[in-house]
Amino acid sequence: MSTASAGGVPVEVHNPNGALRVVVTKALPGDRWLKVLTAAGCRVEVSADPDTILSNAKIRALIGDKCNGVIGQLTEDWGAELFGALKAAGGRAYSNYAVGYNNVKVPEATNVGIPVGNTPGVLTETTAELALALTFAAARRVVEGDEFMRGGHYKGWLPTLFVGNLLQNKTVGIIGAGRIGTAYARMMVEGHKCDLVYYDPYPNQWLEDYVRDYGKLLASKGERAVTVRRCDTVEEVLRQADVVSLHCNLDDQTRHLINAERLNQMKPDAVLVNAARGPVIDEAALVAHLQANPNFRAGLDVFEDEPEMKPGLAQCKNAVIVPHIASATLWTRAGMATLAACNVAATLSGHPVWNKPDVLPFVDGPFEQIPKAAPSIVNAKELGLQMA
Ligand code: DGY
Repeated sequence: MSTASAGGVPVEVHNPNGALRVVVTKALPGDRWLKVLTAAGCRVEVSADPDTILSNAKIRALIGDKCNGVIGQLTEDWGAELFGALKAAGGRAYSNYAVGYNNVKVPEATNVGIPVGNTPGVLTETTAELALALTFAAARRVVEGDEFMRGGHYKGWLPTLFVGNLLQNKTVGIIGAGRIGTAYARMMVEGHKCDLVYYDPYPNQWLEDYVRDYGKLLASKGERAVTVRRCDTVEEVLRQADVVSLHCNLDDQTRHLINAERLNQMKPDAVLVNAARGPVIDEAALVAHLQANPNFRAGLDVFEDEPEMKPGLAQCKNAVIVPHIASATLWTRAGMATLAACNVAATLSGHPVWNKPDVLPFVDGPFEQIPKAAPSIVNAKELGLQMA
């Protein structure tokens, strides 16, 4: 590895003689992703700029006048400006280093013929586990207790100290029953025997059957059978659930899905968890709700104006807040890097698109057996790309 400057932005250069130039806007974990790109004949330039979030001007400088592909971040604004610059530099591939791609204006990429990759399939359990951690940290007041201990305030056991909510046998609600919502629901149902209510425009028959079968198993052991119900409205979920976890995409329909009116329909001691996208909640309304309802709790991984928080949130003791780390396990983050690299390398090599749920052969199998395909291209259909 050597260092250089790309239009004034410091970069680390790998495989300097590679014929194709790929820019990576942030250092990525693991090394398989780099092997994938170098094996595909790419010179890889990884930004070493100290800014946490790169401006469009810096990304344009990185792209320069020759760039065949980019791996970018969910904090960047990938629209006409950057896709135009990439196209003009000979670019043919872009992958977001994320499963979510609300930071990408996909039609703008499609307009200039650039495939857009994302990284589904390796975040499911990791993200669901963090949502679960937030659920129990909020319900059982773990952060308040930790702060209390570190502050030297503990004078001895008391019957009334940091009393929280028991979630066993309660009702869990999920909004969005895709892969991550399903994994979270299973953790709450199987681990904590919760009944499940969910809202999703599409029924998840697999999940419903699974919970019903699990209920039968419990009943056969003499235990209470868990139940499942798909609700017609978000409000129904909010009214019934003791814990609501958000797992929907951010789009025009879900922006501020949880607003003041809907918060008021939740139980006064409910727990609201968001490891999806910040703007799904009207954060100012949530702050007001937390202030007015001390027994209401929130567990938040994402924020409306990241990296900022709305005024007052940091002071709400009944909120547990972490910095968008739901996917932050080494296996997942390295897997995301491999998927993003495979999206770019396969596209530049003219390979077809995989777009199947099982991506483990890309991330876990022997290197030589990585499929010759782009794991996930979101505009494959629009661009008429060949499927594997
Ligand atoms: C994603 O991949 O969309 C996540 O938000 C990153 O953790």
